[in-house]
Amino acid sequence: GMRPTERLDKVHSDAGVASRSEIRKMIRSGRILVDGVPANSPESRIDRDAVRILADGKPVNTSRFRYCLMNKPAGVLSVTEDRKQDTVLDLLDETQRKLGLFPVGRLDKDTRGLLLLTNDGDLAHRVISPASGVAKIYIAEVDGIPDEEDVKAFAEGLVLKDGLHCLPAKLELTGGNSCRVTVMEGKYHQVKRMLASRGKPVLQLQRTAIGGLRLDDSLREGTCRELKEEELCKIFNSK
Ligand code: URA
Repeated sequence: GMRPTERLDKVHSDAGVASRSEIRKMIRSGRILVDGVPANSPESRIDRDAVRILADGKPVNTSRFRYCLMNKPAGVLSVTEDRKQDTVLDLLDETQRKLGLFPVGRLDKDTRGLLLLTNDGDLAHRVISPASGVAKIYIAEVDGIPDEEDVKAFAEGLVLKDGLHCLPAKLELTGGNSCRVTVMEGKYHQVKRMLASRGKPVLQLQRTAIGGLRLDDSLREGTCRELKEEELCKIFNSK
């Protein structure tokens, strides 16, 4: 069937590399090639999934949806806007900032580690929804020593003081005051509240995986990079 088409200047500006007015100027001066042919009009209709755009010889990413992996540091909010405090969007470079990215779920201000950012609302929903069965894995350091009783309580499904029922979760003892927690849901302060309910308040929390996607050791804290296609698939496939 017919593929939907969009304006060339719109598709190009979605890539975040130049403003719409800059793009119009570039088109007029013949610096944009569409499938090898100089574009002559910003309004020309193109199929973003089928064309190749070159701007001054450089390929332009025309994908509608973009997916980034951040190693979130402590001290920033995982929201898109705050009047006083730094957000994860403040950590992005100029191009990444123009992509309309938002964090997939939230990590607390003092939680570090793996955070996905995307402009794909459907994917975000599928990652967050417990029904999708995407596990989120955290390393916690607690005040106290987690033990087999805690492991059992997590596996049975905790009921918190305020009556909140948690889905069964996995607690693994990793030595001393640290443990690994795997949850399928992400309610407000979920992991902290689960461990606090066992008398083991969290001192430090780091997310290390979302589904089969693991935090990349080479990704410096506070930086963000685009996901590779096979990494995107790993989110929903933990094998
Ligand atoms: N659970 C928490 O308590 N905090 C987070 O940031 C993530 C999960």
